[in-house]
Amino acid sequence: MGTPETPVIPAAKITIDPAFVVGPVRRKTFGAFVEHLGRCVYTGIFEPDHPKADEDGFRSDVLELTKELGVSTVRYPGGNFVSGYRWEDGVGPLDQRPARLDLAWHSTDPNLVGVDEFARWSEKAGVEPMMAVNLGTRGTQEALDILEYCNIKGGTALSEQRKANGALEPHNIKMWCLGNEMDGFWQIGHKKAGEYARVAAETARAMRMVNPDLELVACGSSAPTMPTFGEWERVVLTETYELVDLISAHQYFEDFGDLQEHLSAGHRMEAFIKDLVSHIDHVKSATKSEKQVNISFDEWNVWHISRDESKAPTGADWPVAPVLLEDRYTVADAVVVGDLLITLLRNTDRVHSASLAQLVNVIAPIMTEPGGRSWKQTTFHPFALTSRHASGTVLNLAVESPQLDSEKTSGFTSLSAVATFDAEAKEAVVFAVNRSATDALTLDAAVASLSPTGIIEAVTYTNKDPYWQATADDSTSVLPSENVSVKLDGGRLTAELPAVSWSMIRLQLP
Ligand code: AHR
Repeated sequence: MGTPETPVIPAAKITIDPAFVVGPVRRKTFGAFVEHLGRCVYTGIFEPDHPKADEDGFRSDVLELTKELGVSTVRYPGGNFVSGYRWEDGVGPLDQRPARLDLAWHSTDPNLVGVDEFARWSEKAGVEPMMAVNLGTRGTQEALDILEYCNIKGGTALSEQRKANGALEPHNIKMWCLGNEMDGFWQIGHKKAGEYARVAAETARAMRMVNPDLELVACGSSAPTMPTFGEWERVVLTETYELVDLISAHQYFEDFGDLQEHLSAGHRMEAFIKDLVSHIDHVKSATKSEKQVNISFDEWNVWHISRDESKAPTGADWPVAPVLLEDRYTVADAVVVGDLLITLLRNTDRVHSASLAQLVNVIAPIMTEPGGRSWKQTTFHPFALTSRHASGTVLNLAVESPQLDSEKTSGFTSLSAVATFDAEAKEAVVFAVNRSATDALTLDAAVASLSPTGIIEAVTYTNKDPYWQATADDSTSVLPSENVSVKLDGGRLTAELPAVSWSMIRLQLP
């Protein structure tokens, strides 16, 4: 019993056993996204006049931060942008590239970065490019053209064109998205499910004639709130099931001022994944397929979409690289991002690839000033630490946790956790979020079957003021710091998890 002086801290129990494996930790879970949108490309990854620009015009400070973030794949060039994109505009001599209207973001694209530059940047950043083709204003032929340009060694018109443009070796891009959010009314050339299914199937079939082992992603619904979510998946997958590997999922979370509701984001993502899995598996069963289609969660993040920073310019103004979607993230947003990543990992059996949307400046963990500094937002930290330390296999935890309710969402656990186990590295890692907006939580973990010999590191990201935001002037006064409450006593691991916190506990194994 607690007294007024010693309040009882609610406790959550978990049991970790290396025998209960969900699946491998997939490096592709740690993907990101670079779209021709706002300042993501121009003054984001690319700024030839910047003092830190390298010989190709890429910002070396952004390259370093991208590596530190631990990004695996990067989706490109959109997003809504891709549905009006002519990839040919972005190749060849820079002084001959046309500036074009970008209808999606009401901007002008100077086309100084295109697929060759992006492939080069990816190589420098140590990431795998994931290309999207335009199935909005274009179709199968243009998808085949960019594939030929990128992946054929030589001896054809487009592969020789690439070589003449300086890229002697093929880019060998394996992952391709068949359009973007084609169910959305905002998408240029958006389609009804049957229309998209047909063009996606034909494009996938033809692309596989060029490269049979491509990893192809069909467009799922652009959000679980779309009225057609479910039916769209049924129609699209019925036509494409044997032709694609993955179907996309997109989901963004906004803080409307109710912190407890915001902190339920991981629970809402989990529900979406379960729903999407059932829609996929319905088609698998209905078509009697032996194959398993999985999920590419290729857009996820906190995005304050209803705030002014997300409004594209209008009227006669078609600026180059305007300030757009430059959300500033709080510590609470970072806790949500950490929880979303925990949720993606927990579903590693069906989520085979994911992309944090986006990488630089646009709803991004990395920010830059044109001509100036670059800095880390709060959301950088849980992503970078999870990417660096999650390895081996994801374990299925037995969890007993107090439940929470918020205004719109009820019955979600206060604790969101996942554990990874790497026998080779002799390390198990627990990632945990306390979703309560008000109360600390005691974590009580039964870890005897891991036989841990010690704690390598225990860090927590939290702040008295959960609305603290990093800025260019102060991005370091709130950082993940040691959690001194973490104790290992034989087979029992305990920790205090403050309200609105993300934690990582690394255990040494024998
Ligand atoms: O990531 C920002 C935008 O969100 C993307 O362009 C689009 O695909 C989605 O609606």
